[in-house]
Amino acid sequence: MREAAFGLVAVGLCLAPAGAQFRPSDETPEQLPEAPGREETFYACTACHNFKLVAAQGLTKPQWDDSLTWMTKRHNMPDIRGNERELILNYLATHYPPRVPTRAGGWKNPFAVE
Ligand code: HEC
Repeated sequence: MREAAFGLVAVGLCLAPAGAQFRPSDETPEQLPEAPGREETFYACTACHNFKLVAAQGLTKPQWDDSLTWMTKRHNMPDIRGNERELILNYLATHYPPRVPTRAGGWKNPFAVE
């Protein structure tokens, strides 16, 4: 089931990532905080861009929901629904919640153990 859903995400959607020198092998789900939804979130989002782009954001759950909707509308991300969307949103909201902006002050390693 999961394979089918994520197969869809992976097929032919690899647009040029925002940070040009990204190589997919640079990141693995193991670098993210371990929790339910980690693999699902990682693979759903890294089909198109590196996870750093995601981890650089700190959003509330409704904001993450908007982000996913935006990814779907703007970038043709497969619409993730139901339990899977819930799983991903919970993962994102738990591990990437709103925080003091780090962009101006330099990039904070999202994989670092807090
Ligand atoms: C189908 C391709 C695709 C998928 C899948 C995808 N994105 Fe994106 N995303 C993009 C592109 C292209 C950009 C960079 C251009 C832009 O920001 O409009 C981007 C940018 C972003 C940004 C940065 C926006 C900003 O304003 O800086 C965030 C956050 C983001 N994506 C979140 C996600 C999350 C979370 C997922 C997984 C649930 C995801 N994306 C999956 C295509 C995708």
